[in-house]
Amino acid sequence: MTTGGRIIGWGTALPDKVLTNDDLSAMMDTNDQWITERTGIKRRHVGGSTSSLSVASAQRAIAMAGVDPSSIDVLVLSTTTPDRTVPATSATVQNALGLRCGAFDVNAACSGFVYAYVIAHGLLSIGAKRALVIGTDTLSRITDWSDRGTAILFADGSGACVVDATADSGQLLGWDLDADGSLEHLLYAEVGGSIHMDGKEVFRRAVRIMVDSAHKSLAKAGLGVDDVALCVPHQANARIIDAACRQLGIPLERTAVVLHETGNTSSASIPLALFDAADRGRLNDGDIVLMVGFGAGMTAASAVVEWRKP
Ligand code: ACO
Repeated sequence: MTTGGRIIGWGTALPDKVLTNDDLSAMMDTNDQWITERTGIKRRHVGGSTSSLSVASAQRAIAMAGVDPSSIDVLVLSTTTPDRTVPATSATVQNALGLRCGAFDVNAACSGFVYAYVIAHGLLSIGAKRALVIGTDTLSRITDWSDRGTAILFADGSGACVVDATADSGQLLGWDLDADGSLEHLLYAEVGGSIHMDGKEVFRRAVRIMVDSAHKSLAKAGLGVDDVALCVPHQANARIIDAACRQLGIPLERTAVVLHETGNTSSASIPLALFDAADRGRLNDGDIVLMVGFGAGMTAASAVVEWRKP
């Protein structure tokens, strides 16, 4: 039997500073009604650094897991907004947490947390015993606050979990990682620059690639959409989530949504929605969870997980 993994603790962190749609309306030519109708976002949190938010969410995850930090033998940090170009932000986080283990960053934009979670399972399958997986972004640092086409969407946040190796095949039942670099021009930021985006085209492609990736993961797990108790999509835009879930045939009652409170936090988006659902008691033992994301690259990633309460 292949060694698998199981989440034994999680934590999230959001900066204290909140920007409402009305706050943005005072900064640029936009309004609450437009943002709400076109995106579903009402407010977002901004501030802090990728390392400080990562440390905060990871400390909560480690405390919930009730484990000694020294027992963690690999740290995978998903971020598209590192504190510095060199070294990887995971080095700063590892030191602040007092870990002594392999640590590295993964950048797959908004699909990054699922990439990191799947990579951690690969390491568990070849001998790692305990992984810390973090998804953090501080997109406010690379947002052009004079561009109403992007500034209304992006924000900051972090989500982390401790994943233990299991003697059995664990809770990851199926996964899919994808990328199409020929579409990189649709969403990019040069080094030191801010995000440029063809919003309409990203929207159109996002729905298709999320649905495609979800079907691939479910097929690998030998499951269908009717088996999914909770779908946790990337929190980019409520209309993208609606369209993708409609095409998948998953009703919104079985979908985790926090973006009205968080905006698009990229790597933090899926863990913020997943752990919010878990904290609210929406997940029971044996529930099938489908995480599905898309992002710049254009990347896509999904994972089918059998939920087990820690
Ligand atoms: N406030 C008011 N009006 C606005 C705003 C705004 N913030 N932004 C645009 N408008 C105007 C436009 O100028 C346009 O006016 P016009 O008709 O007079 O020309 C009108 O509103 C419609 O603009 P569209 O761009 O067509 O609006 P759309 O419905 O496409 O929504 C949005 C724009 C919200 C950006 C949408 O395209 C979207 O969400 N796309 C996906 C973006 C996304 O998910 N990105 C993240 C990817 S993940 C990652 O890796 C970071």
